[in-house]
Amino acid sequence: MVKKKIIIASYRCPYNTSYVNVSNHIDDLNVGGVSRGLISALKDRDYRWFCIDKQKVTGDKIVSMKIGREDERLFYDVFCNTYLWPMFHYIRKTDTYNESAFNTYKKINKKFANLIASYQELKDQRVIVNDYQITLLPYFLRKAGFKNISFFWHIPWVDEMYISTLPWIYDIVNGILNADIIGFHTEAYKEKFREFVRLKLNIPVNKNRIIYDDREVKLVVRPFGIKMDNKINRIYTKKGNRKVIFSIDRLDFTKGILQKINAVEMLLESEPSMHSHFDYYMVVSPSRESISTYKDLKKNVEQMVGMVNGKYNTKSWTPIKYFYRKINEHDLIDFYKLADILIVTPFMDGLNLVTEEFIEHSQDGVIVISKFAGISTFIKKEVVIVNPYVVSDIYKGILKGLKMSKTERLIKMKKMKQFVMKNDVVKWLKVMSDE
Ligand code: G6P
Repeated sequence: MVKKKIIIASYRCPYNTSYVNVSNHIDDLNVGGVSRGLISALKDRDYRWFCIDKQKVTGDKIVSMKIGREDERLFYDVFCNTYLWPMFHYIRKTDTYNESAFNTYKKINKKFANLIASYQELKDQRVIVNDYQITLLPYFLRKAGFKNISFFWHIPWVDEMYISTLPWIYDIVNGILNADIIGFHTEAYKEKFREFVRLKLNIPVNKNRIIYDDREVKLVVRPFGIKMDNKINRIYTKKGNRKVIFSIDRLDFTKGILQKINAVEMLLESEPSMHSHFDYYMVVSPSRESISTYKDLKKNVEQMVGMVNGKYNTKSWTPIKYFYRKINEHDLIDFYKLADILIVTPFMDGLNLVTEEFIEHSQDGVIVISKFAGISTFIKKEVVIVNPYVVSDIYKGILKGLKMSKTERLIKMKKMKQFVMKNDVVKWLKVMSDE
């Protein structure tokens, strides 16, 4: 049976559109879980992907809408990433909201919906709208005549009291409720969303169903995933005796990057026998560089890395090998295979696809992970859970990982691989496209 065409809408394009040759895109994948995960699910599918970028691209597969610098500042820097993104991770980066930022957010969402709606032939297809940057899209698309709309919320949904300070939270929830399928990574996020609808909109909701504007809205829980290679037990032989600790994060204040450096410092301080016995490869991918909090974080990270290395390096050893750049797929896979330990320490994270990618490529690596990363709720028995707000907890977690026996590591990794296989992004796509 020929599968239906899938329409995707997301803020971020899957590829860097400056290199996209209309329909023949080249492999310059953008950083960030949403685009990375989705593109792998679409490999064998007919799709059209709408996104927003600095230039307009009209291809068979990718169609991007151009956005000017001032609009981008108010829409992306301010509304999306100073208001929404921190707030939905229980962090505040502002104590006053600016109305023009919301007006621009609304304007961009409307313009984006108009672009999609200008493809009349797509109106009967299902559109999968992704994430917090385009919550008003389901509303505008429905107004334009689209009926099959899915919306996936890729980040945590948090307490009703916490988000109620945002004056436009009702517009956002109303926007999302214009979809007929709404998806979340975990049961906890779905429950928080339901709670908001029940308490604030005063609408009766049952477990997975809401009647909104005389329409049925289905709530689903489906962790996003990756498309895993079937050859799960490939062997990789490491050169050298040093243990390898690895982390990769987008430069972001939700990721607990400084905490990881502090924990490694504590390890060096408390365990002199570990000196020269491990290498910590810390990759930070540039992200949201126009926003000042991100610039400040970069400075702090670099200062801390310099401080720790300055204190502990020797003629032949540097404890933290820091990379501030986007690394290619090939190098990333090498790191995953090489690493004995992956450290993932977000203060809050929707799911965390790095963890899934690591599970795909690692043979017997240990994952030391924050209890606030969505993925850890699914694999809590197989990972070393830590509280990212407590540096000594991360340090002890790393130490535990370093001491774990090979047999235990192998058993745990096998179970985690089964989880990733069972919950791959192809299944996610099936649920979200109602196939
Ligand atoms: C998070 C968001 C995604 C976003 C990604 C990268 O994972 O949930 O929507 O694509 O970060 O962020 P950026 O701002 O670079 O698109």
